[in-house]
Amino acid sequence: MDRIRITGGQKLLGVIPISGAKNAALPLMIASLLTPETLTLENVPRLADVRLLIRILGNHGVDHTVDGKRLGDSPNAGQTIHFRSKEIVDTTAPYELVSRMRASFWVLAPLLARAGEAKVSLPGGCAIGTRPVDLLLEALQSLGVDLEIENGYVVATARKGLVGGEVNFAKVTVGGTHTALMGAAMARGDTVIRNAACEPEVKDLADCLNAMGAKISGAGTSTIEVQGVTSLHGARHSVLPDRIETGTYAMAVAMTGGDVLLEGARADLLQAALDVLAQTGADVLPTELGVRIRRNGGAIEPVDVTTDPFPGFPTDLQAQFMGLMTRAAGSSRITETIFENRFMHVQELARLGARIRLDGDTAIVEGVKALTGAPVMATDLRASVSLVIAGLAAQGDTTVHRVYHLDRGFERLEQKLVACGAQIERVSDPG
Ligand code: EPZ
Repeated sequence: MDRIRITGGQKLLGVIPISGAKNAALPLMIASLLTPETLTLENVPRLADVRLLIRILGNHGVDHTVDGKRLGDSPNAGQTIHFRSKEIVDTTAPYELVSRMRASFWVLAPLLARAGEAKVSLPGGCAIGTRPVDLLLEALQSLGVDLEIENGYVVATARKGLVGGEVNFAKVTVGGTHTALMGAAMARGDTVIRNAACEPEVKDLADCLNAMGAKISGAGTSTIEVQGVTSLHGARHSVLPDRIETGTYAMAVAMTGGDVLLEGARADLLQAALDVLAQTGADVLPTELGVRIRRNGGAIEPVDVTTDPFPGFPTDLQAQFMGLMTRAAGSSRITETIFENRFMHVQELARLGARIRLDGDTAIVEGVKALTGAPVMATDLRASVSLVIAGLAAQGDTTVHRVYHLDRGFERLEQKLVACGAQIERVSDPG
């Protein structure tokens, strides 16, 4: 199994191109189930999760073709992929696939819209918490779907199609909002979605659905209105830049010191996190080409952070920020309000010499003068990359095991960091 070996202590200097957002690409790909015509997505990141979802969609009858390299393309150019689900050939999403990627549960709404039925495995828990799907199911029921749970599967029917209705989310949910949007787009009549997630990935999905002929207004705010249409057509849509990848590299630069242009990044997608970074003492300079992050000398100031739905500080940057705070000149409190068990990186950061105490949903981080390299492993994507950030500043060698977590969500991680002077390499076990 591959490992990542990092020799800490180098400043980061240069340019890091930001890829298309994983968490936008996945629901956009799923939206291809809604039309028999071709949905072309540009700027799709090359990630294990994208490859797995292609397989899952293929099982339902979605063909795909990937454009080859074009003259003048940089190795960092995103992929253009054409998806076409001429016919839905299978409305079952099996446990073996859904349990490997939770987002694949979101095929439920488009399968219902297109085929009037779906049988999708319940995803189960995961490393960051229990992650129920009750709100997604309630949203579908509000759109006239009949649901049964049988042998670990959601068996859903909408024989006469979905019907518009009122969806009131008791809690902000990104996946719930994606589900309601994809269900309502082709429902009979109008839908209002209240307490909708405002995440940029929701807006990106709504923009794509509108390009496919849907009538959605208000996406990006907490109230979304959808006028149902009878069918959707093909479209071309470019995936927005990855705000979590942006924030991750921004924190890496704040950690090691240096000066890096995050090319293609959009500051408006992660303003809360950039504001926090500025408070830690980093210079955050939005430019026409992206966002430039600089820290030359000076201490890392401790800052307290609480995760919140967008536009708040994202839970998907909590682990990375904790990595940064391990070297702060003082103590900081990091409160996680979205997932109940998203502190699996704490014990691993401790292996590098970090001093972190947990008090319920809050981690109290006492900054230390130096971290020291060690072998570490993590149980999820963002936790793994927090260990990379810590390793980049640690004295000596850090080996991050279970690299497959990183491959799910970070495209060409080592290459991007090496290009800025980091000493980081992938090591494969012989045989
Ligand atoms: C999305 O997950 C992202 N995944 C997550 O990113 C991200 O952490 C999360 O949104 C929050 O921003 C993708 O986009 C593929 P939620 P999602 O429904 O949609 C509770 C990463 O590292 N809830 O917004 O599954 C839930 O338990 C991943 O890239 C219910 O109670 O998250 C959580 O406490 C990890 N019932 C809160 O809502 C439900 O039916 C928010 O979850 C659904 C959710």
